[in-house]
Amino acid sequence: MKILSVQSSAGMERSLTRKLSADFLDLLKLGLQQVEIEELDLVKCPPPFVTSEWIAGAFSKKELTELQRKALARSDEFIGQIEAADLIIIGTPMYNYGMPAVLKAWFDQIARISKTFSFDLSRGDFPIEPVLSGKKLLVFTASGEFEFQKGGIRESINHLVPHIKSLTHFLGVTDEKDFYHVGIEYQEFKDERYERSKNEAFANLAKLVDEILIDFLIRKY
Ligand SMILES: Cc1cc2nc3c(=O)[nH]c(=O)nc-3n(C[C@H](O)[C@H](O)[C@H](O)COP(=O)(O)O)c2cc1C
Repeated sequence: MKILSVQSSAGMERSLTRKLSADFLDLLKLGLQQVEIEELDLVKCPPPFVTSEWIAGAFSKKELTELQRKALARSDEFIGQIEAADLIIIGTPMYNYGMPAVLKAWFDQIARISKTFSFDLSRGDFPIEPVLSGKKLLVFTASGEFEFQKGGIRESINHLVPHIKSLTHFLGVTDEKDFYHVGIEYQEFKDERYERSKNEAFANLAKLVDEILIDFLIRKY
């Protein structure tokens, strides 16, 4: 199984999302011998922002200029990593009710016409279709506040998981059942609700490994 692990917390050693991702991978390696992991740390090596050369190059039908080629180099590299992966893990804190800027910059780099999506007006009001398919996505989140889920008291200001869900087709995740999410809440409250939320998330990892592995093996063989 080929895994791309994308980390975006600036918290480093104290980060809950980095720890969830690392523990998940440790458990997965116990269950499957052939695991190849590509680590992408967006904090240590931030993606560039989209520029006018980037856009011109991405939509160009001619041979790219040197500037356009350079502007698209990281995008090409990121897309290659996604193409190679069976499972993509994203570790993301909630920052200002959404994703960290480095993660948004990465999504901007990997959403590329003809590479990760196609656009055709003959499809009517929904002209975008994914290019990639068959991938699984596992998202680990952490937030200081709580109840961002559907029906929760902060549902309307949750711009993290709903945003990522609306971008999954760029990653080749086209079936809802291939999207997995584990979140820790209450981090800033440091009370028993936080302890419960954290313990539940870590305790669920083994079950999640089994679920993802079984599904992966059934599909492969
Ligand atoms: C810059 C910054 C912005 C944050 N914004 C929010 C927020 O809008 N809502 C929230 O619930 N928690 C917010 N938090 C708290 C983090 O989501 C929380 O500390 C989480 O555990 C961070 O993830 P990590 O442990 O993986 O680093 C913020 C933290 C930081 C550092």
